[in-house]
Amino acid sequence: MDLQIKGKKALMAGGSAGMGRATAERLAEAGVELYISARREARLKQAAQEISERYHIAVTPIVADSSTESGREALFAACPDPDILGITIKPPAPNGDFLKVTPEMWRDSIETTLLGPIEIMRHYIPVMKDKGWGRIVNIATFSAKNPMIWRLMSGPARSALINYTASVSREVARFGVNINNLLPGMFQTEGMSESLEPYADAFGLEPNEEVVFTHFLENNKIPAGFLAEADDLAPMAALLCSPLSRFIVGQNIVIDGGQHHSLF
Ligand SMILES: NC(=O)c1ccc[n+]([C@@H]2O[C@H](COP(=O)([O-])OP(=O)(O)OC[C@H]3O[C@@H](n4cnc5c(N)ncnc54)[C@H](OP(=O)(O)O)[C@@H]3O)[C@@H](O)[C@H]2O)c1
Repeated sequence: MDLQIKGKKALMAGGSAGMGRATAERLAEAGVELYISARREARLKQAAQEISERYHIAVTPIVADSSTESGREALFAACPDPDILGITIKPPAPNGDFLKVTPEMWRDSIETTLLGPIEIMRHYIPVMKDKGWGRIVNIATFSAKNPMIWRLMSGPARSALINYTASVSREVARFGVNINNLLPGMFQTEGMSESLEPYADAFGLEPNEEVVFTHFLENNKIPAGFLAEADDLAPMAALLCSPLSRFIVGQNIVIDGGQHHSLF
């Protein structure tokens, strides 16, 4: 399928690893001019080089923390006018006892997973409106719809994010700017590996991969029967970044192997 985005300028904020990188690769495959950002420079630069060599396109790495004002300024300066914008930001680590979640932890969660994406969208939406076309895809989390007691630092702020995008997407769709959210379930990514220890901590487990995955799968039924890979999400992200998605507005698409059990 031709995604019809060859030559468009695409920014994947959070594009050096996991689902962000997989999405960046699908966009690269479709021939965009690509910008990817992340906080850690070495991995980011390596990802940019690998993607550029693999798909023979220009890839510009931008070292920037999307959760801070100065980081976002760096992003906006390096990529002022994308047609396509993907955003993903790592939330704070899984929490333990909910009674020990402090206001400071809530502020951190809101700064990163809610204000980060909102401020990036608020900056780029007028740019896209002026061009008369744009696509925005947030890679958030299915815990926005599927509350989990150990994911208080991720789910609630993302519930607010999808509430925000539900309104804003309907406000800007008539200008050719479509915003949608992808809500992933459990994916085996670099980010998941980094969360093993905090997850083990939260449940008083040994911090080893087998123990943690066994505990997770025993407590979370995934009808598909496996943990996903980053590219189980990326094709859907790329489709939402294309003109082919012109009638898809303000949607929240859960990609979780059927784990979240609901009609909508
Ligand atoms: N993996 C799962 O099972 C799972 C489940 C539910 C929801 N999610 C959500 O899905 C999203 C992607 O997860 P993932 O597992 O693909 O993560 P990942 O493997 O850690 O990749 C995240 C990417 O975003 C970058 N990034 C993170 N925070 C950033 C920030 N503040 N500013 C700029 N770049 C940032 C990372 O690079 P740097 O770290 O160098 O910045 C990396 O390139 C996250 O929002 C996560 O909460 C994941």
